[in-house]
Amino acid sequence: MAAVRIFVSLLVGLGAYYFYNQETLSTDIVQGKRVLVTGSSTGIGEQIAYEFARMGAHLILTARREKQLKEVAQKCLELGASSARHIVSDMNNLTSAHNLIEETSNKLGSLDYLVLNHVGGSGKFGPFQGDMEAVISSLTVNFLSYVQLTTSALTMLQESKGSIIVISSLAGRIGAPFALSYSAAKFALEGFYSSLRRELHLRQINLSVTVAVLGYIDTDSALSTVGDKMTMTASSKEMCAQEVVRAGILRHREVFYPYWSLKPLILLRDWVPDLMERLLDTFYNLENIL
Ligand SMILES: NC(=O)c1ccc[n+]([C@@H]2O[C@H](COP(=O)([O-])OP(=O)(O)OC[C@H]3O[C@@H](n4cnc5c(N)ncnc54)[C@H](OP(=O)(O)O)[C@@H]3O)[C@@H](O)[C@H]2O)c1
Repeated sequence: MAAVRIFVSLLVGLGAYYFYNQETLSTDIVQGKRVLVTGSSTGIGEQIAYEFARMGAHLILTARREKQLKEVAQKCLELGASSARHIVSDMNNLTSAHNLIEETSNKLGSLDYLVLNHVGGSGKFGPFQGDMEAVISSLTVNFLSYVQLTTSALTMLQESKGSIIVISSLAGRIGAPFALSYSAAKFALEGFYSSLRRELHLRQINLSVTVAVLGYIDTDSALSTVGDKMTMTASSKEMCAQEVVRAGILRHREVFYPYWSLKPLILLRDWVPDLMERLLDTFYNLENIL
């Protein structure tokens, strides 16, 4: 009975918090703002670019594949972007990450939103075989390049009183079997950006840091990597991008998508970690993994 009361109170509390956060958003805030979206040749990054484009932002898109970037840039213009340019860059190289910000500064003059979204280099989804190269490349692409981009863009972002939007994952809050290198990078991101947010606050620097904690999203790459290995249903990448951009513009500290699957799990992690992990274990299709 006590457990039911706690569960109901938890749901009521979460519901109240969820609706409290549903402030309305005036899209004019973003008109003419300067936005860099990494990993925007496809997937969630592409959809985030379209969200900013609809609100009239100046966009810089970046990833490694130029043809895809050109197509996304063209669509951004059709959707209403004030401008849309692309820079080809590989985030496995930290000098390239620094140069990307230099080039962004040359093209846009400054920066209002830095959206850190790219992902790669984590190796195969499967049992950890001690592949150190995958660990190093995952930490470089999925963590160190994020830090390098932030470091290089910090002065511009401080001057514009801008925002950093960091795309994280449930795998950055709860250990993720078969994706150890990826999970390690996401945990590192969570530590760095939550510390940065607090430090900026203590130093009274008006620069917001929004961390987006995402569940399973229906991008082509996620579906092809884990589609036959996880039994859960993927959520919409378009809706995901809307929620992430909205939270970033409203300068929220965190956003969870899909909220109702993730938030209760993260709360349960602190109360009943064993139960929560056993629940998550049921989503792995081990026959297709091992
Ligand atoms: N989809 C999910 O289920 C899910 C769940 C939780 C969190 N997330 C997070 O959401 C974000 C986007 O995921 P997604 O599913 O949209 O991924 P995605 O479709 O695979 O897109 C990844 C993007 O990163 C770029 N990229 C990959 N390696 C790169 C490199 N070395 N240098 C520069 N760019 C690189 C890719 O473009 P190029 O190949 O052209 O370089 C692409 O634009 C990631 O941070 C991911 O961790 C996704």
